[in-house]
Amino acid sequence: MGIATEVDTEIADDWHAALAALAWEVEAGADEAIGDAPINRYELATETPKPLAAKPSSPPPTPDAGADPVAVAQAAAADAATLEALREAIAGFDLCDLKKGARNTVFADGNPKARVLILGEAPGAEEDREGRPFVGRAGQLLDRMFAAISLSRGSPDAENALYITNVMPWRPPGNRDPEPAEIAMMLPFVQRHIALVDPLVIVVLGNTPLFALTGTRGILRARGHWSQALGKPLLPMTHPAYLLRNPSAKREAWADLLSLQQRLR
Ligand code: URA
Repeated sequence: MGIATEVDTEIADDWHAALAALAWEVEAGADEAIGDAPINRYELATETPKPLAAKPSSPPPTPDAGADPVAVAQAAAADAATLEALREAIAGFDLCDLKKGARNTVFADGNPKARVLILGEAPGAEEDREGRPFVGRAGQLLDRMFAAISLSRGSPDAENALYITNVMPWRPPGNRDPEPAEIAMMLPFVQRHIALVDPLVIVVLGNTPLFALTGTRGILRARGHWSQALGKPLLPMTHPAYLLRNPSAKREAWADLLSLQQRLR
């Protein structure tokens, strides 16, 4: 409890009264004295407390406040002359809210000299934990699918190598689909990423990367049909997560893999 030395002047003048007051306060639970001299609160000047400084209704502006995220991303991506610089530029991009909920920025995996660049959607829980794309169940299926046509992310030789990245480097909460605005602000980084790797062909897995590179959706119609994006041949395929849920679609995915193999001959 509080403090025992605050007795008024009249009482302080009277030793016995002061002692009685102190005994009463101790009995009431006072156990600490904070001042040597008693303070008469009745005689203190009544000072009107100063109003607290008004709280700003919004946080102070940061250098990027109000900036157009797409324009900021375009400038940052254009400045990145190497993959390492691009990785740093993405890690330093703070205008995408997905970053706040992510454990890791998932940049890429595989051999940057690969002829085939695979573009996925976004990290899931395991990718977010490990900081590498396609390491969960869908990723294991992806590895098996491409191994069937002798392509792997671990291959040191460009002929048989894969390079794997995603449209979004951060995991969306609950694995929801990335929103168009989120895709739009990360697209300059994706475009720069593809330009720096300069693959022979791009494979997009599922609707999100198909939409990012072509502006269209409808992966089940588009799959297996070669088109062009960023000046490169583009092969849309169904996402391995879809194949895990719909094993009968693996037959078509196999046809798409054979089509890719043919293209690489
Ligand atoms: N799905 C994706 O699209 N990318 C990953 O990295 C993992 C799962």
